[in-house]
Amino acid sequence: MVAQRLTCGTTQVVLGRSLLAPADILPERERASVAVVAQPATARLARDFARAAVRAGLRSEVRVLPDGEAAKDLGVVAELYEWLIGMSVARSDTLVAFGGGSLTDAAGFAAATYLRGIEVVYVATTLLAAVDAAIGGKTGVNLGAKNLVGSFRHPARVVIDVDVLDRLPAAVKRGGMSEALKAGLIGDEALVGLLERDGMEADLEEVVGRAVAVKAAVVGKDFEEQGERVHLNYGHTVGHGVEVAGGIGHGPAVAIGMVAAGRASALERGFEGEDRQRAAIARLGLPVAAPGLDRMAVLALMAADKKRDAGGLRMVLLERIGAPTVAHVGSATVEAALTAVEIA
Ligand code: GLY
Repeated sequence: MVAQRLTCGTTQVVLGRSLLAPADILPERERASVAVVAQPATARLARDFARAAVRAGLRSEVRVLPDGEAAKDLGVVAELYEWLIGMSVARSDTLVAFGGGSLTDAAGFAAATYLRGIEVVYVATTLLAAVDAAIGGKTGVNLGAKNLVGSFRHPARVVIDVDVLDRLPAAVKRGGMSEALKAGLIGDEALVGLLERDGMEADLEEVVGRAVAVKAAVVGKDFEEQGERVHLNYGHTVGHGVEVAGGIGHGPAVAIGMVAAGRASALERGFEGEDRQRAAIARLGLPVAAPGLDRMAVLALMAADKKRDAGGLRMVLLERIGAPTVAHVGSATVEAALTAVEIA
């Protein structure tokens, strides 16, 4: 089957099946070395790729970084620089990262800064990375706060092999579906319809292609998040509070956050799709409430985000599906939004 080639800024997104050969992953040009980073779960894929790169005449080595947020650490990145230096990676060489969003964030940051920037390719191995984290050129590491240090820099290519996504555990796939639904809600009603109809059985190639197209359209207008890129944070204001206060995964937390944002949208903008959105979230097996979480703890986390804006709490709201907006919301709306997700 022929791979789809999409564009997000200067990134070529290659989407299809059986896409793990050097010819699929590496942009066509001269280079001597390919440095490959992976996380424990993707080390085998990365090593297979590196061996194929060596057979194709390149120098290639693999480094496995810690799982999850632990990769997004300046100490880990410093060791990565040392490893690149030890491998004599030059500016004309390429870093390839096999993994989810945390790995691509850290590898993207290292690639943006090593020798003032070398080419980087992401092989997105989680659905969440494929539909959101690996697309759009945000790189970063944590320093006290999440993503405090980073850059906007597009990867040269993002490779999404649906065969890899098909093999993901259901819970991991479900987390990515939450961000895919978010993409539909802010920019593609047909994607919402697809997820409503087929739930977790929805064709991943179509889901990812549509979600990437929504993100590419937003990022194309506002790469450095001066304005409408913030629409991609629909569901993330309450979602972030729920994620941290409840230790809930990002995808499920965003699902809960979208239910809360739906209620705020109904109150502030007359959004009529609240029930439809809730049913779509439930159809995917994602949570629609977070009973048992402490309202004060969630509010405190939301307020920490609010500090960035002197005008008060800003939320992404929907006027209708496909029509997001940003507004300051008062405490009555915030309280009602938390009540909607059973945070008492
Ligand atoms: N994940 C939101 C963004 O890339 O802006």
